[in-house]
Amino acid sequence: MGKVAVAFAAVAVVAACSVAAVMVGRRMKSRRKWRTVVEILKELEDDCDTPVGRLRQVVDAMAVEMHAGLASEGGSKLKMLLTFVDDLPTGREKGTYYALHLGGTYFRILRVLLGGQRSYLDVQDVERHPIPSHLMNSTSEVLFNFLAFSLERFIEKEENGSNSQGVRRELAFTFSFPVKHTSISSGVLIKWTKGFEISEMVGQDIAECLQGALNRRGLDMRVGVLVNDTVGALSLGYYHDPDTLVAVVFGTGSNACYLERTDAIIKCQGLLTTSGSMVVNMEWGNFWSSHLPRTAYDIDLDAESSNANDMGFEKMISGMYLGDIVRRVILRMSQESDIFGPISPVLSEPYVLRTNSVSAMHEDDTPELQEVSRILKDLGVSDVPVKVRKLVVKICDVVTRRAGRLAAAGIAGILKKIGRDGSGGITSGRSRSEIQMQKRTVVAVEGGLYMNYTMFREYMEEALVEILGEEVSQYVVVKAMEDGSSIGSALLVASLQA
Ligand code: BGC
Repeated sequence: MGKVAVAFAAVAVVAACSVAAVMVGRRMKSRRKWRTVVEILKELEDDCDTPVGRLRQVVDAMAVEMHAGLASEGGSKLKMLLTFVDDLPTGREKGTYYALHLGGTYFRILRVLLGGQRSYLDVQDVERHPIPSHLMNSTSEVLFNFLAFSLERFIEKEENGSNSQGVRRELAFTFSFPVKHTSISSGVLIKWTKGFEISEMVGQDIAECLQGALNRRGLDMRVGVLVNDTVGALSLGYYHDPDTLVAVVFGTGSNACYLERTDAIIKCQGLLTTSGSMVVNMEWGNFWSSHLPRTAYDIDLDAESSNANDMGFEKMISGMYLGDIVRRVILRMSQESDIFGPISPVLSEPYVLRTNSVSAMHEDDTPELQEVSRILKDLGVSDVPVKVRKLVVKICDVVTRRAGRLAAAGIAGILKKIGRDGSGGITSGRSRSEIQMQKRTVVAVEGGLYMNYTMFREYMEEALVEILGEEVSQYVVVKAMEDGSSIGSALLVASLQA
């Protein structure tokens, strides 16, 4: 071989080596980046871990906090609010009633006709509208004028221009925020949650605000009850099945209420009711315990929220927040690796990823995860390989599994407090016949997260069985109450007329 040829060959070898080196380098770099992402995922899984032992600690903490909240005002982060609902609907209610429900994302209006028998419950035209976002930080007047206006339009449509009853209409107002009640039909707003921020309304009587707006529109209608959404769900549950003692909402926010013996409400000594019990609105969204598995994402989400240091449990388990936790994990992965391509500015927008998109990605059963790909595209992340889409599904799974399992622990905590969890049963050597004495308890559940997110529901129900054990869980029935918050409050206003 001539000198020139040797030189060429040498150059070619060097070139080939450097191309190979670049390729190997790239592959190694990409492997390193993939490893980074896998480590972030592993850390998330570890931090969100909820083995049954930890769930039991949460159960105990919930029961302890319930006691403390009932013992004294401010005795716990759980407010354990009186509702003045001491009798729940029986099925004998009659007449026509309206309900208006201001939730976290939607407001609903409906009319029910009751025939005096449990079987005759006709729910007419449930109207469900998203709450216009500008109302969430407007003024009290703007908000209530809007609600009164919507109600007026609904009535016109329903009654076709004539008040068929010829009597004053009775309205149940379901208000899904914490209220300190002074009676079943009045109470002041304690604080806003779920992103609402109309500060002038804190401390105002909510029923009066609505009544004022109805009067201003000349609507012949009386706000007969003011109830939390959980109380509405409990009422509908009880109407159908008197074993219903607990109601839980998993929606934009989360909360629970239950029927408590008045003598256990120590902070209100001398409280007398004919039934000997009262529904207590726990406001469990504010529950906190060091046993809750908290991640760096939860801490940042809380710090950047409009209600920092508040509603810690709600921020781990409810629809408003699950999407944002997932977004934060994806954002971090995209900052620390390039598996999502160039960092999308959309990913930095708080709450841009909604929980219904998380559910759609989590439950995507298309072969190439096309739904995941579509949603990522909306977040400014295009053309990621299936391997990366699978990773996103896994993030959704970890966050939702934790939420479902903690939700179950919350429910088991209430069952423990009211002696319906069979606790101490098997371990304290109770006999088989005593275990069989365990009473049936129905837990009414309402809210979009529970109704629409199958995986959340399944994780919750699975964990409840895990915590309670097969035997006891046979006595605990979880029942979905679609629109229960609104229908139930209409039943409640009806029961007061009986
Ligand atoms: C509110 C509760 C409500 C729950 C579910 C929470 O943010 O504080 O009053 O019941 O959301 O809607």
